[in-house]
Amino acid sequence: MKVTVVGAGAVGASCAEYIAIKDFADEIVIVDIKEGFAEGKAMDLMQTASLNGFDSTITGTTNDYSKTAGSDVAVITSGIPRKPGMTREELIGINAGIVKTVSENLIKYSPNVILIVVSNPMDTMAYLAHKATGLPKNRIIGMGGALDSARFKYRLAEALDCPQSDISAMVIGGHSDTGMVPLIEKAVRNSVPVSEFLSAEKMAEVVEATKVGGATLTKLLGTSAWYAPGAAVSELVRAIALDSKKMFPCSALLEGEYGLSDISLGVPCVLGKNGIEKIVEIELSAAEKAKMMESAEGVKAVNALL
Ligand code: LAC
Repeated sequence: MKVTVVGAGAVGASCAEYIAIKDFADEIVIVDIKEGFAEGKAMDLMQTASLNGFDSTITGTTNDYSKTAGSDVAVITSGIPRKPGMTREELIGINAGIVKTVSENLIKYSPNVILIVVSNPMDTMAYLAHKATGLPKNRIIGMGGALDSARFKYRLAEALDCPQSDISAMVIGGHSDTGMVPLIEKAVRNSVPVSEFLSAEKMAEVVEATKVGGATLTKLLGTSAWYAPGAAVSELVRAIALDSKKMFPCSALLEGEYGLSDISLGVPCVLGKNGIEKIVEIELSAAEKAKMMESAEGVKAVNALL
């Protein structure tokens, strides 16, 4: 498998690093517009190969998309990141132009590529990628839910004082501070609903901490987080590479699913060699459904700014 990562900033480099360490890709190409930057990151990462025990080759290029030719998957992380106090939505003006150009360049050299969109505001950028490229809907995946779910599990494990591996939980809806829908009613510790262990008040706290997970880190770091975003992307790419049919919440173009259409929004998706193999429609409670509709309205309002 050949994977391209566009953007050699912290998130892009972290994607490339985790993809390399997991050792399922033959070739990883990093692209950046800053002269020499992607080449430098690629060389630095390649010098970890003997230490970390991977055989993937990593190369970098300054904006030469011909080097990305024949990519099976391309991850778009380019654009400006959040600064403290900024919402993801405030990035739309600059990032929309970048995501459009990058998608077009990628498809020119890799007509069969599956795009994973990470740039923010992510749901709107994934929607824009659909509009700009007209790719079949299975081949554009917005990455947000896998990351938000990991943050949800972190908060749940903290509240339950248990290992994260005990927890199974998912966040659907928009990848924004107000739009995320952490499915707390469905979250379990080894098949036992978390409500058996946590008070309603504690559960509400976990939900709130999850929704502002990215903002909390942006405040601490002075910029957007990168380790968990990179790790989340690498898991999506691995599911595609291995055709594993694992289920992740991803921002997918909806055409009637969940009663929504003409929007890219976080819903459970089965991932395999074709990208989104299936959108899974789960039964939502009335409260969950209401939150999902509210989330969709928020994303549509941002889409209207395109
Ligand atoms: C975050 C960015 C990647 O949530 O949106 O950290």
